[in-house]
Amino acid sequence: MARVPNTEPLLSVGITTADWMHMGDELRRLEAAGADYVHIDVMDGCFCPQVTVGAQVIGALRTTLRKDVHLMIEEPLEKVRAYVDAGADTLTFHVEATRHPHRVLQALGKSVKRGIALNPGTPVTAVEPLLDDVELVLVLAVNPGWGGQRFAPGTERRLGAVRELIDRSGRAVMLGVDGGVTRENVGSIAAMGVDMIVAGSAVFDGGDAAANLRQLRAGAGRAAV
Ligand code: DX5
Ligand code: ZN
Repeated sequence: MARVPNTEPLLSVGITTADWMHMGDELRRLEAAGADYVHIDVMDGCFCPQVTVGAQVIGALRTTLRKDVHLMIEEPLEKVRAYVDAGADTLTFHVEATRHPHRVLQALGKSVKRGIALNPGTPVTAVEPLLDDVELVLVLAVNPGWGGQRFAPGTERRLGAVRELIDRSGRAVMLGVDGGVTRENVGSIAAMGVDMIVAGSAVFDGGDAAANLRQLRAGAGRAAV
């Protein structure tokens, strides 16, 4: 049975609450402190209440980190190409945001790692028909729209259920979790068997971002950098 080989989860750091006036410095800090990805939350004010950034800004971010782009936008079908062109390494959209998630995946083809995200209120079985065409399932532990929310307790059960679906598919699909990760709970979340952890405010809480990230890495069982 195909499994993603990581034993300790990769860390994808959300920059919504970073200092956008000094984004170059923020990215250098993440590179030095051992982030695996930079996670960019794209919100359109329709799928979720906030508006963040789009493809042009993502294309302008200069970093050696892989770009993990999380689209929280309505009807992504006609919009995804711009994010691939902007340099997304991984492009995730929400199963709730389109009537045609399979068409979106077909449109993306092999041009990018394809992710499908699930809101906390969506049955996990929604991803089952898509597992042949994704490289990542991202389970949200919060409702999309804001950083700093609490990790929903039902998430562990949902992660277990998605893991079963992935195992049954026989494909090496990564399982990720996004939202509500703190420096205190990251160890217990890593123990839920995820391949990728997304954390934003646990890194950018106004303190030392590099030190926060190193603490997260240690909590997730990753070696020091
Ligand atoms: C939810 C976003 C998350 C969130 C992460 O709207 O997709 O990426 O901002 O932020 P924290 O880690 O602060 O929950
Ligand atoms: Zn996100």
